[in-house]
Amino acid sequence: MKSFDIKTKIYFGDNALDRLEALPYKRVLVITDPFIEKSGMLQAITYRLTNGNIEFDVFTDVVPDPPIEKITAGVEKVVSYNPECIVAVGGGSALDEAKAIREFARKVTGNNEVALIAIPTTSGTGSEVTSFAVVTDSAQGIKYPLVSEDLLPTEAILDAELVKSVPASITADTGMDVLTHALEAYVSTENNEFSNALAEKAIEICGTFLLRSYLDNNDTHARKKMHVASCLAGLAFNSASLGLNHGIAHAIGAQFHIPHGRANAMVLPHIIEYNSDINKHSKSRPTYSPCVKKYVNAAKLLGVNNFNEITTVRALVSYIQFLMKEMNMPLSISQCQIDKNEYFNAIDKMAEHAVNDACTKTNPRVPTKMEVASILEHLYE
Ligand SMILES: NC(=O)c1ccc[n+]([C@@H]2O[C@H](COP(=O)([O-])OP(=O)(O)OC[C@H]3O[C@@H](n4cnc5c(N)ncnc54)[C@H](O)[C@@H]3O)[C@@H](O)[C@H]2O)c1
Ligand SMILES: [Zn+2]
Repeated sequence: MKSFDIKTKIYFGDNALDRLEALPYKRVLVITDPFIEKSGMLQAITYRLTNGNIEFDVFTDVVPDPPIEKITAGVEKVVSYNPECIVAVGGGSALDEAKAIREFARKVTGNNEVALIAIPTTSGTGSEVTSFAVVTDSAQGIKYPLVSEDLLPTEAILDAELVKSVPASITADTGMDVLTHALEAYVSTENNEFSNALAEKAIEICGTFLLRSYLDNNDTHARKKMHVASCLAGLAFNSASLGLNHGIAHAIGAQFHIPHGRANAMVLPHIIEYNSDINKHSKSRPTYSPCVKKYVNAAKLLGVNNFNEITTVRALVSYIQFLMKEMNMPLSISQCQIDKNEYFNAIDKMAEHAVNDACTKTNPRVPTKMEVASILEHLYE
């Protein structure tokens, strides 16, 4: 038996932020990253809380890939301020930090009633609708997803006004995260008709609007579409989970601090080849694994239609590499100014972490540690 539900209520479209004026809470803690505060974007949140006569305090101790120390500081803040609701504003790092803070604060206070409103300012992680929060254990060099329905935000607000300021390189990284979420959910062992419908729409939007968003910051139509695609892909993987691509990206991200979406993008062509068992030397076969059909569908949704299974999967890989080049993204680790010896010395550890990552469990092909190490080696060049 399977089930599908969307617990998080989603507000979207023009002026979606106005929802904040009508929140049924009197005391709110806003958790956001320092950029959102310094840039003045936070005012779009706080003036609406003020209009709604809602008392608030702000916690800005958020850094990319939230480490456990920051979560502890946030828990202390929640315990002392005792809010009825947390409003998390920012990229996936701020949202995940807030999700983890609320979860650990619950354990300290025993109060399970604190609501969480997630307001993404990047179009990437879909964290506003997922039961995942990715945290980093800096001492161990591990990045791992906490997964629990208790992490699901109460509400999500998608207002594309907040993503207008995202610079091109972050648009590229986060946009490729969306595409990776959708593709991984689409071929996951837990994929189902509901998650597939969501993933297909997200893939289609990425094909039409990701490059447009990258090329022109002022293309608000494209930005609005990518903001919705990010959420659709989040809903897809919240149902179907992800795969080895994220397992490897977490391992590399923890070790070498490559932005999450960028790491995913570099890994993606390798994972499509690995999962489909199709590479540039492949010849036609009478049968293919079920994920090949999915990759062929995905290619068609992206407008990459080709002669047969092999050529279409190859075209999908080429399309992803083309997109990355157009968006000036590195295609390999060697293009990320990472020392070769340091990288190769870390492969064994990264392969171990990737195989054991919670996301890897639903990959369509069960990887061995040696296979993952081989992917990591190829990723360097
Ligand atoms: N919980 C989930 O379901 C999930 C899914 C995928 C990834 N993640 C995690 O999310 C994190 C990545 O999140 P992200 O890709 O959104 O990046 P991020 O939150 O780390 O932000 C990246 C940078 O973008 C800046 N930024 C954010 N909004 C901006 C805006 N509107 N204008 C200009 N700059 C802005 C931030 O200040 C930061 O410097 C990683 O830790 C990743 O592992 C979580
Ligand atoms: Zn991701």
